[in-house]
Amino acid sequence: MKDLKSYLTIDSSFFSKEIEPSSALNQILDKGMGLYTISHKDLHVPEVLWEKERYQLEKSTVFTSLDPHIQQKVLKRITQLNLSLSYFIEKSGHNYGAKMILLADSIQEKSLYCMFAAEEAIHLREFSNFINFTVDPKVHWHPMLKPLAKVIHEGEKNTCLYIIQVLLEGFGMGHYNSLKNDCHYSPLVDVFNRILKDEARHHGAGLILVKESQLKKNEREQIFEYTREFLTALQSANWILNIIEENSSPLSQAQRAKHYEEVQYYALMDKRLHSLKEILLKADRENLVADLEREGVFKPLSAA
Ligand SMILES: [Fe+2]
Ligand SMILES: [Fe+2]
Repeated sequence: MKDLKSYLTIDSSFFSKEIEPSSALNQILDKGMGLYTISHKDLHVPEVLWEKERYQLEKSTVFTSLDPHIQQKVLKRITQLNLSLSYFIEKSGHNYGAKMILLADSIQEKSLYCMFAAEEAIHLREFSNFINFTVDPKVHWHPMLKPLAKVIHEGEKNTCLYIIQVLLEGFGMGHYNSLKNDCHYSPLVDVFNRILKDEARHHGAGLILVKESQLKKNEREQIFEYTREFLTALQSANWILNIIEENSSPLSQAQRAKHYEEVQYYALMDKRLHSLKEILLKADRENLVADLEREGVFKPLSAA
């Protein structure tokens, strides 16, 4: 028998193989999912679910100088990336739930994580119902997914609680909420509303369990390191400018800087990092946030 870690690799968290839709196993799953999901497979999802205003692209000279059909292409890719990020996050929730079920100290904790894992499976199906393209990690990746997989693979139990349930689920709630507010496709808005209720419970359970825990030295070190990695990854995405470059020509340093200024990127990032700090403070009893702050991790990268 392999040890627990070897079942929790990045491959197993994100890239489990897909079996034939017509297989007996899939049919049983479809039937079961039908009892719990609020959405159905939708083949008429608009190609653009989030408009340029969400990213203040109407103020960006780089974006507004593109041909309208390229602008549309960029927005289409952003829509795919948003759906794919949710898809990968929910997928990894299966392995996270499995790990926490096995590490639970009581039957109540085990039951809680069984429910948790089931909800992540339902979330994955809900999002998949709106995905009509092949999710390809080579084109639909977010740097944040790497530290996420690393925590699931290597994190001690309390590290997982802090990083996944408190920090990432807290961040995820804000992220899903803002995607919901800026999305005009009502079937997907309904799904976000439903998922947000579940995620609030996951995050809430994380906060309660963290309060009952005592951090060991190596857990504290892991939490410190993974938080730093997560915040750096969050800021290294550069989705929009990369997509623009792929669809037009390389941008100069000056063009990039102007774009960031026009869309008020640093102010937005500052706000985002501040809200992540607030999330961590809710669970902080060990001056972790103060130590992280001394390292400057809550300052936008190029302004640090
Ligand atoms: Fe979820
Ligand atoms: Fe969750």
